[in-house]
Amino acid sequence: MRAILYTKPTIVPLSNHHNREAFDCGVVSLGRYIREQALQDAKGKIAATFVLSVDTPAAIAGYYALSSTGVNAGELPKDIAKKLPHYPLIPATLIGRLAVDHRYQGNGYGELLLLDALQRSLIATEQIGSMAVIVDVRDDKAKAFYEHFQFIPLVGCLNRLFLPMAAIKEELKGV
Ligand SMILES: CC(C)(COP(=O)(O)OP(=O)(O)OC[C@H]1O[C@@H](n2cnc3c(N)ncnc32)[C@H](O)[C@@H]1OP(=O)(O)O)[C@@H](O)C(=O)NCCC(=O)NCCS
Repeated sequence: MRAILYTKPTIVPLSNHHNREAFDCGVVSLGRYIREQALQDAKGKIAATFVLSVDTPAAIAGYYALSSTGVNAGELPKDIAKKLPHYPLIPATLIGRLAVDHRYQGNGYGELLLLDALQRSLIATEQIGSMAVIVDVRDDKAKAFYEHFQFIPLVGCLNRLFLPMAAIKEELKGV
């Protein structure tokens, strides 16, 4: 009997039914995270990991991890900071990691994961305040990926970028 193949990509919370061993995005630390740490972080409420499946439900084509974070008000560009209350720490949502397996890269799955993460972050603001989505980037290639989607570097932080929740709301209108 032929195996039933997924035709529609799905994004679901990581569980121990997923085959974490086979994931390889070309960045050692991101492979190690999904294999060794992500389930533990989910259990401890440190980060919630969501997994993209394309062919079969157990195979991981990509993933992202979300957590709560804070941004120092002084790290925001002046034109944005001046519209905010004078709190030293501004609540935000962190995409700590986002990766696509190298066999699936270049097919729009990175964008699909990012949009899903942004949408999930926006929906969560109905219950928990967050004025932006933050990403930590490891190298120039990752930075260029997020800049492609209008993320802006935080002031004085070369490896941290952000996108205001208001811009995300506008961008996702009608999606
Ligand atoms: C970065 C990464 C997530 C991109 O995923 P992908 O599936 O290959 O990207 P997509 O096919 O969805 O690309 C979507 C768009 O982003 C662009 N893009 C992809 N990678 C890019 C990069 N490094 N720099 C600039 N633009 C990039 C594509 O050209 C495409 O643009 P278009 O729609 O205008 O044609 C993937 O290459 C990856 O996992 N890399 C290793 C891990 C990593 O660096 N993660 C990010 C930081 S944690």
